[in-house]
Amino acid sequence: PTLPKLAPSILACDFTRLGQEIGAVASAEYLHIDVMDGLFVPNISFGFPVLEAARRVRDASGSAQILDVHLMIDRPERYLEAFVKAGADSLTVHVESTPHLHRCVQTVRELGRRAGVVLNPGTPLEAVRPVLDSVDLVLVMSVNPGFGGQRFLPQTYERVRTVRRWLNELGSEAELQVDGGVTAENAAGLVQAGASVLVAGSSVYGPEWEGRGGAAAGLERLR
Ligand code: DX5
Ligand code: ZN
Repeated sequence: PTLPKLAPSILACDFTRLGQEIGAVASAEYLHIDVMDGLFVPNISFGFPVLEAARRVRDASGSAQILDVHLMIDRPERYLEAFVKAGADSLTVHVESTPHLHRCVQTVRELGRRAGVVLNPGTPLEAVRPVLDSVDLVLVMSVNPGFGGQRFLPQTYERVRTVRRWLNELGSEAELQVDGGVTAENAAGLVQAGASVLVAGSSVYGPEWEGRGGAAAGLERLR
């Protein structure tokens, strides 16, 4: 079985130590950055200054980690260019957040960045089909977006299997990412269902790793 790529989510980290918290997960292929606007989801997280800071930490470390920005905002087309300027390598937009999904994907590609699309748990998978051949990443939410630390929804396995089948049929090399409630307990099952990238917040940055290797140890448990 292939090893998953990992995308630790800084939403769960200690923001008083942002630089160290990012450094602790430097071995991960991605750094997941959750942007919430208080409209598309019932919570507000952070925006440009935090992304810019993460970018500086990444650049100073010399790592090739991909800054993977998950936009939980209404009408993301308004801000795509600004997120690229702030340092995003990859921009993922919700199919529910815009009537112009295809345009968003096109814009991100024209800006020279990776384009991702994401589905809420209640959204029919068919909503991504029209853009499936033009994206670099498909994200299947395994919780309702807005908060870290929620319980994984088991219907995700079937949804991942279906999207994996569609990507294979297209011969697409797009990544298939899962986000929400990912732990060492469900990681292997998700990979088996076809996921290639696992996002994890609380299982990486959670208090259980305090004094036991911290986030670096939490990350390794997911491999
Ligand atoms: C949820 C965010 C997730 C969140 C995951 O809205 O999109 O990326 O940080 O956190 P955990 O892993 O704790 O469920
Ligand atoms: Zn996320």
